[in-house]
Amino acid sequence: MKKVRKVIFPAAGFGTRFLPATKVIPKEMLAVVDKPIIQYGVEEALAAGCDQLIVITAHGKSAIEDHFDISHELETALEKRGKTELLELSRSISNMVQISYVRQKEAKGLGHAVLMAKDLVDDEPFAVILPDDVIDAPVPCLKQMIDVFEQVQSSILATQEVEGPAISSYGVLDGDPLVSNPRIIAVRGMVEKPKLEDAPSKNAIIGRYILTPKIFELLENLTPGAGGELQLTDGIKGLLKTEKVYGYSFEGTRYDAGDKLGMLMATVDFALKRKDLGPPFREYLKGLKL
Ligand code: G1P
Repeated sequence: MKKVRKVIFPAAGFGTRFLPATKVIPKEMLAVVDKPIIQYGVEEALAAGCDQLIVITAHGKSAIEDHFDISHELETALEKRGKTELLELSRSISNMVQISYVRQKEAKGLGHAVLMAKDLVDDEPFAVILPDDVIDAPVPCLKQMIDVFEQVQSSILATQEVEGPAISSYGVLDGDPLVSNPRIIAVRGMVEKPKLEDAPSKNAIIGRYILTPKIFELLENLTPGAGGELQLTDGIKGLLKTEKVYGYSFEGTRYDAGDKLGMLMATVDFALKRKDLGPPFREYLKGLKL
């Protein structure tokens, strides 16, 4: 049985939904309270026991590499000023993990982005975390999925029910829950960004995947799908011809931090949970005339 050790973080997109903020700053570096959204994903991967992280970047994304690197200038300044706590915080980020970076030279879609990591992943099952999807859960979402992977030894896609026309922003699963565990869905098919009337269910794919390495040959042979892009969903659909694929309805709250409203919701909820900010922020919110 092969363990899931490697996690791919596609981070090459333009982040147009957050312009002008993302003209210079990668959207993955936008912060929920005081932590860049990609760091939430990196911490989740580490908490799930994965230690080989691969970030797919592009032109203009070097802030991500700098963030997880040592900043000698900052650390010297903090040391001089005796700011030990902040110094520890800065060091803890660079000490967190060794990350490999692969460039996606053209924005051809999520399937193409994942394919960029083929040589680094090689012949083992791996995970994908989409940094936009920030998930707050008692047991990290990826850990929950790895536990399921250890039972089923097949690809697993995180899923959540989405009501109404919003379903058209997602990959959508067709399948039935297992009698033995209704959180696990045996997938029959899937479609990327369907019209509401064509959606096979309410089960949207959320940005956490565990995939078998067979996916790479399917990604190599993809033709453009929804939006003219090489879609990961289409690659996984191809996997279904030879392997089982499961959906997993995880426990936890997911925020679409790639969307302005989702980002605001994440900011409020995470701030309220903080020991330092929660009480005064709650007082402030209570005083708002809504
Ligand atoms: C991507 C995937 C889609 C998935 C979504 C989850 O879409 O293509 O299948 O449902 O992430 O966030 P994107 O949000 O990049 O358009």
